[in-house]
Amino acid sequence: MRTQLPPQDLARDERFHRISTTDRFNDLRPNGLSQAGRMDPESHESFDRARRQMHGIFVGEIQALEGAGRTAYDYTTDETPFAMKLDMARQCWDEARHVEISLMLGDHMGTEVGEYSEAVTLFEAACHPDPVFRLAGVNRALEGLAIDVFTTMRDFAAEMNDPVLWFCEDWMLADEVTHVKMGSTWLREITKDDKERQQQALEFQRTVDGLFNFRGARGETREASIQLARKFREMAGFDTEEIDEIAAMAEQQRAERLANAAY
Ligand SMILES: [Fe+2]
Ligand SMILES: [Fe+2]
Repeated sequence: MRTQLPPQDLARDERFHRISTTDRFNDLRPNGLSQAGRMDPESHESFDRARRQMHGIFVGEIQALEGAGRTAYDYTTDETPFAMKLDMARQCWDEARHVEISLMLGDHMGTEVGEYSEAVTLFEAACHPDPVFRLAGVNRALEGLAIDVFTTMRDFAAEMNDPVLWFCEDWMLADEVTHVKMGSTWLREITKDDKERQQQALEFQRTVDGLFNFRGARGETREASIQLARKFREMAGFDTEEIDEIAAMAEQQRAERLANAAY
């Protein structure tokens, strides 16, 4: 079986609608100014937003499964320790469950496969030739985003009095904390004697984190559309300074967006 599968070779049936990562981030509708704040249960817009987010989570879970599968398989045991392969295999098992849960939550919330587009950004980050960069970009930046998104959705479910959504998000959140923790542990372990490689991987992580701040939509105030989940990130092996850095970057991006909008 081949290693290093390119994103265009991912298997999807005719229900899915692929868009490029560039188109995804140039689209100002999701997380644009009109949807910059938290999902308000009183707002009629929130139901469509929640459905779109659920679809985004669903396709993200598929790609997380595919990415963890590649990372388990693509390297020799000289490149990645066998125990790390086992962790990646365990992650595949979790993500496969998340795909099923997300599919059923889509039914629950009134959306269906292909109602929204799919950009394979997560899998693209999982195509980096260096496994340490995959740990930084996927397990820490993107699975870290999953921690924030699931926390936000869980809080929204509580406000909506929806115990099904709350329970599912809480369950998946626990798994995502484990996946980020795996990223933190293995990144430090593999690069413990190569600080330059570690720093380059962390720099890659910052780039991915910056992109997924969605122009400052992520933040720590109650009004942020994606909550930066500080407590769960700490449990997953993030240093306080790392979390502060993401928060500061998001704050700056938010200020720039508001300044641009003023013209
Ligand atoms: Fe997941
Ligand atoms: Fe995950």
